[in-house]
Amino acid sequence: MLRIENLHVEYAQIPALRGVDMDINTGEIVALIGANGAGKSTTLKAISGLIKPSAGTIEFAGRSLADLVPEQLVELGIIHVPEGRRVFPRLTVEENLKVGSYALRARGGEKEARERVYTLFPRLAERRRQAGGSLSGGEQQMLAFGRAMMAKPVLLLLDEPSLGLAPILVEEVARAIDRFHDDGATILLVEQNAELALGLASRGFVIETGRIVLTDTAPNLLKNPNVWASYLGREDWEVVDERHRAPAPSS
Ligand SMILES: Nc1ncnc2c1ncn2[C@@H]1O[C@H](COP(=O)(O)OP(=O)(O)OP(=O)(O)O)[C@@H](O)[C@H]1O
Ligand SMILES: [Mg+2]
Repeated sequence: MLRIENLHVEYAQIPALRGVDMDINTGEIVALIGANGAGKSTTLKAISGLIKPSAGTIEFAGRSLADLVPEQLVELGIIHVPEGRRVFPRLTVEENLKVGSYALRARGGEKEARERVYTLFPRLAERRRQAGGSLSGGEQQMLAFGRAMMAKPVLLLLDEPSLGLAPILVEEVARAIDRFHDDGATILLVEQNAELALGLASRGFVIETGRIVLTDTAPNLLKNPNVWASYLGREDWEVVDERHRAPAPSS
């Protein structure tokens, strides 16, 4: 569904992506993991048209995205939930959800979509008249998700959805991601929380200083010491590995 080849992005002539190749199949959840500054958010921004690559190609359902503006990408169902839960602080919860559905509204079904969001996140229903900016961090994340849901994503780009959330809310985020997936969305998930991302994904890509250095199934990445020690700079990989090791077969 999504094919990225040799993608290069520069910020003021300084390279951020240096030849990224990625392939995502319809219906997959794929994780993109890597250290701070590796180029994860930049990759998502290039896909959703927020920044223009200096070289390389991005194809979605066999069609090049090069000449499309972000609004056209939204029409195609490419929905980006950026880092840091961008909700409109002065708009109410309900108004925030309406913004997400502007592409959908022309086709009707806004009310049903909104009720679905409220069923999934009852806290948002209780606070539908409250200003977005007065919600707690976790509630704002739910609202950012709800807004994405209103746009009926075909390809959902999630940037650090668990960042700064308490463990119980991280579980809620994981459930919401599963829900998007059940609804048929293909998902590219960027996470510092690699265990969370690889727990949800079937495959993963590891990015280091603007290049994909490793790709494998999620279970293989979870038990690959290089991923934790070299690429993510974590010294606790043995603990991580232990947690995910399959129980020894009983003979
Ligand atoms: N607007 C910008 N202007 C200049 N440099 C930028 C800009 N945005 C990102 N960069 C640089 O590009 C590189 C990749 O940044 P990016 O935000 O993609 O990293 P990331 O993998 O998402 O990191 P993090 O895990 O910290 O969110 C970094 O070196 C960063 O400093
Ligand atoms: Mg980032």
